[in-house]
Amino acid sequence: MSEKMVIAIASAKGGAGKSTLAQIMAQVLTKHGQRVTIIDADPNRPQVSWRAGRSAMAFSIIADVTENNVVRHVNAIDEGYVLIDLEGVGSRLVSRAIAKADLVVIPIQPSGLDANEAGKTINLILEEQEVLEREIPFKVVLTRTNPAIRSKIERKITDEMTAIDLPLTASQLNERSAYKAVFVEKVSLYELDPAQVNGIEKAIANAEAMTAEIVN
Ligand SMILES: Nc1ncnc2c1ncn2[C@@H]1O[C@H](COP(=O)(O)OP(=O)(O)OP(=O)(O)O)[C@@H](O)[C@H]1O
Ligand SMILES: [Mg+2]
Repeated sequence: MSEKMVIAIASAKGGAGKSTLAQIMAQVLTKHGQRVTIIDADPNRPQVSWRAGRSAMAFSIIADVTENNVVRHVNAIDEGYVLIDLEGVGSRLVSRAIAKADLVVIPIQPSGLDANEAGKTINLILEEQEVLEREIPFKVVLTRTNPAIRSKIERKITDEMTAIDLPLTASQLNERSAYKAVFVEKVSLYELDPAQVNGIEKAIANAEAMTAEIVN
């Protein structure tokens, strides 16, 4: 891909899995030969600390992102995927990132609270759409789901979202220790040690399916 695609990962709910999704998408896209930049706009700077590790994955991470410079950072990138890892609150920084996005991805855990918070993020998107008079596509992603069983609450949320035509991805990001290990070991899924971490293959397959569905 030689054009540019800006994907903002936003969710008003803290801990929904934004930083994890941004990181694993960056890894999958890089592994498949794409150019990727993560804009780390999470105040805890998880991507910047990840970069301090020993991963050989060659994607860039932009740090020190504020509401005053986020637009400039996005505009300065010529090509490839730009993944903006946002903070878990509504703020001017989040609104500006959404305004620059070609796609907003909203991760939520299968709980009623998270689904409510997704509604807040969707409202932010609708506000930016009105300001800009352009459509800002978005997708909701269920995260940390159990790969073996679908919980009742998960089914209920899925049904409710489908009933009101909310764009929920078919793939879900499962709960996998490999996704945690990525931030602990500070390497990519492809560089984790199978002797130390269970289910790496499944985590990679899930991450690849999710990424393909989001970018296509
Ligand atoms: N799919 C997953 N499998 C296992 N653990 C996960 C998964 N997604 C997130 N986690 C864990 O849940 C916690 C919160 O995830 P993460 O930091 O990605 O959320 P966040 O939305 O970026 O949070 P914040 O709003 O604080 O920025 C972390 O400890 C992370 O390792
Ligand atoms: Mg985060």
